[in-house]
Order: sequence, then C-alpha cells, then structure tokens
Amino acid sequence: MSRQDFSSSTAPSKEEAPFEISELFFSRTDDRGIIISGNEVFRRISGYTWDELVGVPHKIIRHPDMPKGVFYILWERLKKGLATGAYVKNRAKDGRYYWVYAIFSPVDGGYVSVRLKPTSALFETVKTLYAEAIKCEREDGLSPAESAENIHAKLSDLGFPTYSAFSSYAVAQEVMARDEALARVEDERLQSLARLLPVLEALDEQHTSLFASFAKTRGIPSNMRIVASRLEPAGGPISAISQNYRLMSDEASNHLGSFQGEDGTQSLPAVVTEQVYKALFMMAASTIQCEVKAVAAEDLAAGAEKEGFQGEVDVLNKLAEDYMADSGGVLHSVCSEAMGLARSAKDLRQLVTGLDSIRVLCRVEAGRLGAQSVALTPVINQLDRFHIEIDSTLEQILALADKVAAMVETAIPRSFNCSLEKHPMAERNLSQVYA
Ligand SMILES: Cc1cc2nc3c(=O)[nH]c(=O)nc-3n(C[C@H](O)[C@H](O)[C@H](O)COP(=O)(O)O)c2cc1C
Repeated sequence: MSRQDFSSSTAPSKEEAPFEISELFFSRTDDRGIIISGNEVFRRISGYTWDELVGVPHKIIRHPDMPKGVFYILWERLKKGLATGAYVKNRAKDGRYYWVYAIFSPVDGGYVSVRLKPTSALFETVKTLYAEAIKCEREDGLSPAESAENIHAKLSDLGFPTYSAFSSYAVAQEVMARDEALARVEDERLQSLARLLPVLEALDEQHTSLFASFAKTRGIPSNMRIVASRLEPAGGPISAISQNYRLMSDEASNHLGSFQGEDGTQSLPAVVTEQVYKALFMMAASTIQCEVKAVAAEDLAAGAEKEGFQGEVDVLNKLAEDYMADSGGVLHSVCSEAMGLARSAKDLRQLVTGLDSIRVLCRVEAGRLGAQSVALTPVINQLDRFHIEIDSTLEQILALADKVAAMVETAIPRSFNCSLEKHPMAERNLSQVYA
C-alpha cells in the first residue's frame, strides 16, 4: 500500500472502537515497522482484513491525535534494541479511535507490540500531555526530535527523570489497574516496588542535603589551625586535632562523594531508583507477555486463529521466557543495590561518629587551655552546629536506607532472592534488553 492510501483512510470519528479490558492483542513487524502478523483481536479492532494489514506500515492505524514526538522516542529506543512501552491512540479503518498501552519488544527480524486497554489514573494525565504536545507540534512547527525533547521536559515536570522511568511506571500502573478491574489478585511485588520510589527520592534529597552540609564546613579545620597557631606552643594539640579532623572529614566527604556520584556517575539512591524502574517494567511486561502467550496458544488450539499462527505462538513463548529470565536478573540487582545502599549509609555513620569524637576532643582540649582558648570558641561552636545538622540528616538517611532494604525484602522475599543467586540469568546484561 502506498503513502496515498493511508491519507485516503476514513476521517477520524469521535466514536470509540470498543474492546474488553480482558482482551490482549499483538502485532509483529519487521525492523521497519511493516506488519507481518498479529492476532485476531488486533485485526478485529483495527477493522481491516489481513490482506489489508500484512505487508503495510503500522502507520496504517496511526491516529492524527498522536504526537510525532512519541513515535520519535519509540523508534530511537527500538533502534537501540531496547524494549519500551507507550500509550498510543489508534484509528480503526472506519475512523473510530481506540487507546492502548503497548509494550514493544525487539524479536528476531523485527518487533512485537502487545497491547492492553489503559485504565490507570496516569492515563488521564498522559492524554492531557499528548494534547499539549500535539498543540506545540502544530502551533510551533516542532520537528519530531524537538517534540520528543518537549515531551521529555513535560515528563520530567511530572517527576519522571527519563522516558524509560515513565514507561516503566506506566506499565506497572496499567497492569495493577487492569488486575483490579478484572478482580484478579493484586501483584504485591509490583505494588511494593512502586512504593519504593518516593522513599528513594526522599533518600536522594537527604543525601544531597548532607553533601551540601559537608561542603559548607570545608573551611572549619583550617580556621581551627590558624587560631591554634596563634596559641603556640599551648595550641599544639589543637593543631594536631584540626589536622585529624580535616583528614577524617575528607574521608567522609569522599565516601559521600561516591555515594552521591560526584565523579559524574549517578548517586547510589539514583542507581537503585533506576533498577527499581527497570524491575517494574520487566515484571509488569513479563506478566502481560505470559498472559498473551497463553491466550494465543488457547486461541490456536480453539481454531480461532489463522493458518501459520503457530509461528506467532513460538515467538511469544520465547519472548515471555526472556522477560521472565530478565525480571529475575533485574530483581537480583535491586536487592544487591538496596543492600549496598544500607551498608554504605552505615559506613557513613561510622565515619561521622569518628569525626564527632575528634570534635569532642577539641572541646576537651579547649577546656584544658582555659581562658587562652577564647579565640577558639566560635570555631568550636560552628563545629557543634555542623554536627547537630549532620547527625539529624544522617539519622534520616539511615532510617530511609533501612526502610528501602525492608521494602525490597517485602517486594522480593529472601527465598526468591536466594533462588536468584543461582539464577543462570542473574548476571545477564539487561541494558541490552531494557535501559
Ligand atoms: C511493533 C510495532 C507496532 C507499532 N504499532 C503502532 C500502532 O499501533 N499505531 C501506530 O500509530 N504506530 C505504531 N507503530 C509505529 C509506526 O511504525 C509509526 O512509526 C507510526 O505510526 C508513526 O508513523 P510516522 O512516523 O510515519 O508518522 C508500531 C511500530 C512497531 C515497530
């Protein structure tokens, strides 16, 4: 079918092409998005015949309300071999529209997109976001790449650091909303993982604040030494104390720097957050892939699918297996990163305790010097204030890091975690599948 054929499709109507929330449908394309196959539900909802669908670009069901920027993001990711998800508004042959949440996955020779009916609260927000994005495209003449930038900025305003964070959160929300609508048992693991996100965000904030406190007090040991040098020879111990304080403070700052990703890497809480997003995507997608493969096999057995459908069942089986294995790997990473976070927070506590004992020594020494040490008082008072500040932030960091570890334990019980230790896929490089 040529480009002209698409533009001559029936004009979009305000009516919705209905389908059941229980229905899942899929299509498979080559690596340019040319339709190869799909299931009967896909054909039925699109309103086309297989002859009209097979061999034509997927754009055949493109709806004019869809921002170009969304497809730009989709293809950027697919071309990198990354699985991804997106809300898509489609147009059936008769012009009616239908919304889907689609999970796109690379497979041999192309891609598979599995779709479900979106019903979560997030979906309403996304409809508004798309309407704004398309308005910008039309009024400001944004190119697809510029529109993609604009969409990224809007997602960031909603609190999603990246598109993959957004699509992970979205697929998890949609799967949970669908389970609820179908009165299915809730997936506790998805819920627990989603609840981790605000805790990790709070941890990251506390961290940044601790880092800033340390930066503010860099000058204290030098001030102390200057004052101590004026007290010579009696100020000798104070000089030594200030030197020790500086060394330990540097050590704590370095530790904090690695936690904070000062060297250009991500902060530890941000690393864990990214892993949680990945886990949400892989687990939610895995649930859907397992269901669609089972439905496809049943439909094939019931004679409800076209000839040659066994090949599609095979593709879906393989994809579901890959998703399950990759979910195992990424959950394993969440566990180890979360434990690393808790350990790192404890190491920091130890370093700060050491630092605090030097502060106490300094006070004792100043007391021993009596009236002579009056010049030291403002510096020591400054140290006291600093320690009160970091103690309180550190307590919150420790509590939050423990909370993360406990929540991970709920989301991924140790028995499961242990079995993952031996999981052959645990070490697999997930960035090839999802990032
Ligand atoms: C597996 C797969 C499924 C797709 N499904 C849809 C779809 O349901 N609706 C749609 O408009 N585009 C879909 N696309 C994207 C289209 O290929 C295309 O990029 C999009 O319709 C926009 O077309 P345009 O960039 O030529 O405007 C899919 C792509 C792939 C690889």
